[in-house]
Amino acid sequence: MLISASNLVENSIMEKKTFLEQEHKATGFKVFLGSIEDSHVKHLIKLAQDPKLPDLVGWNTFFELDETEKFIDAISDYALPYSQKSKPMVFGVYLNPLDLPIGYVALKGLNMELLTIEVGVAILDEKYRNKGYGKLALKRIAKYTFNELQVQTIAAAILSSNNSSINMCKNLGFVVKEIMYNSWTMPNGDLEDMVWMELTK
Ligand SMILES: CC(C)(COP(=O)(O)OP(=O)(O)OC[C@H]1O[C@@H](n2cnc3c(N)ncnc32)[C@H](O)[C@@H]1OP(=O)(O)O)[C@@H](O)C(=O)NCCC(=O)NCCS
Repeated sequence: MLISASNLVENSIMEKKTFLEQEHKATGFKVFLGSIEDSHVKHLIKLAQDPKLPDLVGWNTFFELDETEKFIDAISDYALPYSQKSKPMVFGVYLNPLDLPIGYVALKGLNMELLTIEVGVAILDEKYRNKGYGKLALKRIAKYTFNELQVQTIAAAILSSNNSSINMCKNLGFVVKEIMYNSWTMPNGDLEDMVWMELTK
């Protein structure tokens, strides 16, 4: 059988990267989580230039294309009292491992004593929101975190106004631990309430 040049390129990409896969059994839809290269971070920076996003995530999502490190720092920021400085783990969310990412998942603030970690997730490409991909991505990263990192508690800090994110977490079994009133400073200086949610192994 003849193998085309494009097949060879595809195979070598698939071989180099390991993807975590999650399927929605009823529909067959899948997401893949994979380590993310610089050019893909640039793509996320472009997608994040959406004026509606800062009010949902609580930080200024507008970065220059070459500010990849600053962007990674922003998505790796953590908010909960027990979270500690740790090397963040950032994954691209892919619908096809050969395409560009539609969003990201970030694990940050690992506390090695309490075995807690914070998670952040965003489907930055608006046309792919509300289709179940965020939930699939979070479900897969939770499995990875509990099984591979030996973490006991996955936590999320979500603005109290971000109903879709709170609902997504509740759907996956996260429970509200605390409402942290006026705990988060928005880009315009206003203080907002954060919901502290946790999923335990
Ligand atoms: C929040 C976000 C990650 C959810 O991902 P998504 O792919 O859009 O959401 P899903 O389609 O997987 O939906 C998962 C659940 O979220 C909830 N949800 C999704 N969209 C919603 C909406 N517009 N209003 C209320 N709840 C909503 C639902 O409970 C849904 O579960 P269900 O379909 O079983 O009812 C995504 O919308 C996003 O990135 N938004 C912008 C950035 C952001 O808010 N990030 C989170 C910061 S903490």
